[in-house]
Amino acid sequence: MNRILLRNFLYLLVIVLCSSGCKSRSQNTTALKGLKDYYNDYFPIGVAVSTRTLKGDEAELLLREFSSITSENAMKMEAIHPREDYYFWRDADSIVKFAENHNLKIRGHNLCWHEQVPNWIFTDESGQLVSKEVLLKRLKDHITTVVKRYKGKIYAWDVVNEVIGDTDEEFIRNSLWYKICGEEYIAKAFEYAHAADPEALLFYNDYNTERPVKRDKIYRLLKKLLEEKVPIHGIGLQAHWSIFEPSERDLRDAIELYSSLGLQIHFTELDMSIYPWEKNKREKQPGDIDRLTPELELKQIDQYAKIFKIFREYKKNITSVTFWNVSDRYTWLDGYPVRGRKNYPLLFDQKLQRKKAYQEVVNFKK
Ligand code: GLA
Repeated sequence: MNRILLRNFLYLLVIVLCSSGCKSRSQNTTALKGLKDYYNDYFPIGVAVSTRTLKGDEAELLLREFSSITSENAMKMEAIHPREDYYFWRDADSIVKFAENHNLKIRGHNLCWHEQVPNWIFTDESGQLVSKEVLLKRLKDHITTVVKRYKGKIYAWDVVNEVIGDTDEEFIRNSLWYKICGEEYIAKAFEYAHAADPEALLFYNDYNTERPVKRDKIYRLLKKLLEEKVPIHGIGLQAHWSIFEPSERDLRDAIELYSSLGLQIHFTELDMSIYPWEKNKREKQPGDIDRLTPELELKQIDQYAKIFKIFREYKKNITSVTFWNVSDRYTWLDGYPVRGRKNYPLLFDQKLQRKKAYQEVVNFKK
């Protein structure tokens, strides 16, 4: 009898423990709801990573909040193909493996750019610039090798990065790619990528894409590529923004204009500097603010709320939003372009806690 009582008692105890365990698990799940869950019905939310991000507390945050990753640097030509006869795969491979293990989407970044490009690609053994034929052959070999390695794993590639000139008069940037090949290398890059993985979505990626003059030049380039039947599926708007721009009007106009070409829109490198946009490196000046004052924070909260509201409105056109870095603990904007100046452009603070702007981004009615 006692044995039966004891057995029933233990049985009950197991049920009670089990159900309270389940309860706390489900409470945890609610607490663990991240950006990717709030935006589940909208678009994947991604983040740029390095191999360091894949460990420790940053990895935990990453898996809680994001559903897609982009390699911040490891797939750029300089990093992955430092010499003609040598590819350095280790870091890019581990980023891809991490994404596969955790079921994350992967955007590839990037295949052809005028920065972070190794010198060997433009020059011969005596240091002279190579011919157009040689450069295109090298570009083809590079793109074919990298895209094939990650075929079926990387679903979208930033094929060509930042070819539009910064000054109003310059259409295509006068880079070494342009000097040697003329405009043709742009279309070729897309063709090589498409041949290597016909399933991958191919993007043209650039910054200041909402500023009207640059926007119209980008539109002109994209339209031309589409008319020439170049395999291009989308435009990457980097979205290295600030609390001062873009305006709601400029953002909407840009989304509408690019979408009118039938292209998908990815916001590929989102962050929101607390300082006005600058590109040329300089020293800190006396009087330069370099902390997140309450006023700047309020502006940032407001700007994040505005742009995400617009993203949600255009969910038919926008198929991905990726942040450039995880938190204010580390951002490429620390010290750029003003040496020694810290920036605070993301939704998580230096302790990886959600900032107030985060709440504004996720607080909406579906
Ligand atoms: C550009 C590039 C990125 C990155 C940022 C700065 O936007 O596309 O790869 O280098 O600059 O981090």
